[in-house]
Amino acid sequence: MNDANGFMNYLNNTVLAQERGSFWLPPQASTTAADVDWVFQFIFGVSAFFFILIVTLMIIFIIRFKRREGVEPGAAPHHSMALELTWSIIPTIIVVLIFAFGFTTYMNMRIAPDNAYEINVTGQKWKWLFTYPNGHVDENLHVPVDIPVRLILTSVDVIHSLFVPAFRIKMDAVPGRYTDTWFQAKDPGEYLLFCAEYCGTSHSDMTSMVVVHKVGEFEKWMQDAANFLNTMPPAEAGTRLYKIRGCAQCHSIDGTGGHGPTFKNLFGRDVALKNGSTVAADENYIRTSILDPMADIVAGFEPVMPTYQGKLKAEEVTAIIEYIKTLREE
Ligand code: CUA
Repeated sequence: MNDANGFMNYLNNTVLAQERGSFWLPPQASTTAADVDWVFQFIFGVSAFFFILIVTLMIIFIIRFKRREGVEPGAAPHHSMALELTWSIIPTIIVVLIFAFGFTTYMNMRIAPDNAYEINVTGQKWKWLFTYPNGHVDENLHVPVDIPVRLILTSVDVIHSLFVPAFRIKMDAVPGRYTDTWFQAKDPGEYLLFCAEYCGTSHSDMTSMVVVHKVGEFEKWMQDAANFLNTMPPAEAGTRLYKIRGCAQCHSIDGTGGHGPTFKNLFGRDVALKNGSTVAADENYIRTSILDPMADIVAGFEPVMPTYQGKLKAEEVTAIIEYIKTLREE
């Protein structure tokens, strides 16, 4: 969350999500969440019961059988069949139950239903990108309610881990391979999504929202989202492109350095080039820099930018230029 607005939304949503959960756990917002909680609580309950039983007996025995003046220790008791059977059979039943509950829940969580809706997930330093079947790329995970959704994850740099507490799912995103997980959301609403694998400086900023849409609204959202160039003001569409098309990795918007020049106060400025000449940063300069990055190398930078020729449509280039104009400070 880079901007103040996003951060406030984030906080509000955090409160929302917590209100619907219990004191101990987040809301059970997926179909497998209740099973996961049940297994957890069963193991926790068994552990707590035996912890208290053992510690209590230990204290009682310490006091009761303490060595006393003038009392000789008696002979050690002999083998007791009944006692040994009890402490073998009861724990065996308990661990078999833990295995049975744990294994069935695990298999349900691992194996996605055949008809699951598929969304591709890319982890990168430091954000999540979700790619939908119609080609739309979004920073948040939008899903329909009551439909199984399978996520296919990978990473372009280091290992990240996608974690949605309300759905009780967590899966690593690993560079050079695909991993997958699935869930079926039960209630429309917004839930928090985290990166749960330490991945560098901004690991803690690698958060997104999961938006669960009501029946019928998801398809409409996806259409509008893919169409954002036509539905949003150009500068706003440009902000979005800046984030999802890779500009943000090298060009800052706050004046800090990177592999490329910052976008802050770029528009309208005179830019000194490596070859000694100077150009005015107008619409045509920015368009050329996007489509033919080798044409005007800015002094002090290496020619490392890939061309966006064929990757960005004309309207998209315009939107990015409009966005860069908004980054001027008078
Ligand atoms: Cu990505 Cu931590």
